Amino acid sequence: MVSHCKSNEELQELVDVAKTYTKQGKVADYIPALKQARRDDLSVAISYPDGKGYCAGDVSDKLTLQSISKVLTLAMALLEKGEEHVFSYVGKEPTGDPFNSIAKLETNTPSKPLNPMINAGALTVTHMIVGKSVDERFSRILQFVRDMAQNQDIGVNEEIARSEYDSADLNRSLSYFLKQHGVINEDVEDLMELYTKQCAIEMDCKDLARIGCIFAMNGKDVMTEKQIIPEDIARICKTFMVTCGMYNASGEFAINVGIPAKSGVSGGILGAVPGKCGIGIYGAALDDKGNSIAGIKLLEMMAKKYSLSMF
Ligand code: DON
Repeated sequence: MVSHCKSNEELQELVDVAKTYTKQGKVADYIPALKQARRDDLSVAISYPDGKGYCAGDVSDKLTLQSISKVLTLAMALLEKGEEHVFSYVGKEPTGDPFNSIAKLETNTPSKPLNPMINAGALTVTHMIVGKSVDERFSRILQFVRDMAQNQDIGVNEEIARSEYDSADLNRSLSYFLKQHGVINEDVEDLMELYTKQCAIEMDCKDLARIGCIFAMNGKDVMTEKQIIPEDIARICKTFMVTCGMYNASGEFAINVGIPAKSGVSGGILGAVPGKCGIGIYGAALDDKGNSIAGIKLLEMMAKKYSLSMF
């Protein structure tokens, strides 16, 4: 049985098959600047703990993290505020609702977002990131992402950040709702600025795969022996990736692929295969749940070929 990728060519064969699915998907358009993405591009990278890596497809394409950033801010908030604080404001349960739904905030008492991967929960977590100003809080998030990806050149796509900020009325509504119920207590415009910048942090699939590898290896960069995040925090993040990472497609994804993963509406997918490797994928065409359509097909094929399912 094959369990380790051996070459870029091997991955390219899978990309060629998965790429045919991009035509069935649609690029996200509710953030206007995301409409410019090339629908038919697809790229993938695998990063192994011994420093080896493979990639295929349109690997020079860059993606903004969007919802993938939610796992990273969760790790940061857990580091800074501790488990007890974080989970007194945000729950641990999947919703079965779309990522931007407001429904359960109103029907649940007390009003507490069900998990940190839906927008309401992610806004609550970003609210917890400490710093004297939005700029300082954002710099800290960016530094954390750079350290996780081991790439100090990672930056932010200002155009996409601005475009989301200018059109984020649904996220504003969620934030005002959270503020009314005492879940957050900061200026909503400040939170919007911070959150939209966090979502617009930009990288390529190789950076994403390296982040995945840190989660996969329990928070450790095996090459340098550096513990980047505590093992317990990596475990919590991976568990949320399994239960809520692909939104209301998480159950199907767990059966068909079986790895902790987190998607974003840009078309990115972060995968962390426990004890084995990290995976980064970018394919902008989305399915109706907001996940990369060809990216999921590719992961299904990779899971079979390399026996990646943890179940
Ligand atoms: O808040 C939003 O709507 C976006 N910045 C992120 C949403 C997202 O990526 C959902 N993913 N599938």
